[in-house]
Amino acid sequence: MTILKDKDLICENLTVDQNDCLQFANVNVSDMAKKYGTPLYLFDENRIRNNVNVYKKALSKNFGDKGITLYASKAFSCKRIYEIMKEEGSFIDVVSCGEIATAKKAGFNLEHAFFHSNNKTDEDIVYAITNGVGVFVVDTKEELIAVDEIANKLGKIQNVLLRLTPGIDPHTYEAVATGKIDSKFGFSIDTGAAEEITAFAITLKNVNLLGFHCHVGSQVFDSDVYMQTADIMVGFMNLVKEKYGFTTKILDLGGGYGVRYTKDDPTIDIAANIDQVSDKLKTLFAKYDLETPCVCLEPGRSIVADAGLTVYSAGSVKEIKGYKTYLSVDGGMTDNPRYALYGSKYTVLPAKNLSQNRDMLCTIAGRCCESGDIIQENVLMPKDIKRGDYVCVLTTGAYNYSMASNYNRLPRPAVVMIKDKTPYIAIKRETFDDITRLDV
Ligand code: LLP
Repeated sequence: MTILKDKDLICENLTVDQNDCLQFANVNVSDMAKKYGTPLYLFDENRIRNNVNVYKKALSKNFGDKGITLYASKAFSCKRIYEIMKEEGSFIDVVSCGEIATAKKAGFNLEHAFFHSNNKTDEDIVYAITNGVGVFVVDTKEELIAVDEIANKLGKIQNVLLRLTPGIDPHTYEAVATGKIDSKFGFSIDTGAAEEITAFAITLKNVNLLGFHCHVGSQVFDSDVYMQTADIMVGFMNLVKEKYGFTTKILDLGGGYGVRYTKDDPTIDIAANIDQVSDKLKTLFAKYDLETPCVCLEPGRSIVADAGLTVYSAGSVKEIKGYKTYLSVDGGMTDNPRYALYGSKYTVLPAKNLSQNRDMLCTIAGRCCESGDIIQENVLMPKDIKRGDYVCVLTTGAYNYSMASNYNRLPRPAVVMIKDKTPYIAIKRETFDDITRLDV
């Protein structure tokens, strides 16, 4: 994998101004916190647009109109992000009717949406077909039959892809390693399940099989993973062509490119990696004499992660002599459950005095009533940090807001987007009325 750089401020949209204060997307982070309150998610709209365009450019350079970028919106879903994707001409991956409904409200053309999920209910299928979702990515035989039957009742023919598991270990954490044979997702190529379901799918009247999908994992840094995936998937395309005369029109290789949470993480040159995988695909298409299908990638994390930052206010510093020091903040696992769930690493910085020594080794603790509510361990912060000072957690744009909860009835923070240095509210802070709205 091509490594570009390694520096302390882990993304170009982070800078330190002349007053030694942290700036994000060219805006002073403390000013944003003062204006909008904490905890606060800040998003850099320009960065989101740049990130998606890296994929779009690389895919169209290699495959022209047949190179398609789908933003995997599970990483961060709200009306505004679908508007941005619409403006950038990106397709989307959705995994629930909630995401479909949000995209619909944003005026997103749902023909450009691929509907995932390993267990779509009949209600989901009716909703998605009725709303004109372009492609279903089908995960089980039961689902395929249900889509065929429901499409028949609705007088429609639904485009589908089959989700396959290529049997690859992506070398990432277990919760996001999805392409292995024993995965809950998809039809295994190794066991013959993928071939069997393909043979069945092409006999159905109300589903139109367009091709195949796979997603081997998330936070992946090893480019070999994608090369091997390409090999296996194109090999499968060839097999079904030879055995069943089936021509694959769409090959979707999923998402997964990793991002930098700390300075120890490498930076992936995504364009160079897409070129490398594309060369491999083109060689394989030629080798097997296959028509070039539409080639799709479905990035989520690498579109929004480094376009996000969370600002908290410090509460207390609790030093347990001989043990550890806790710095508590006014959010926690409710707005960022990733440390509690996966032990995920993050970079934590103060919002001011960045050139000062940070020599207080501490644990950043959330405000929820459980000891597992930790944002990060072993963080160095300034010794004089005190109640009311701002604490910033970097790279929180992906899988933070979208995984946030109201545990302890904590309202979800606001999302403020910054575009060309101008901030605006994309999602309002929840109120106590929002919290009790559904209580009868
Ligand atoms: N396509 C499919 C079918 C997926 O399941 C996923 C992620 C993606 C695309 C996007 O992958 P990405 O580019 O974001 O790596 N909550 C976990 C991540 C779960 C990822 C689930 N699937 C986390 O916080 O790390």
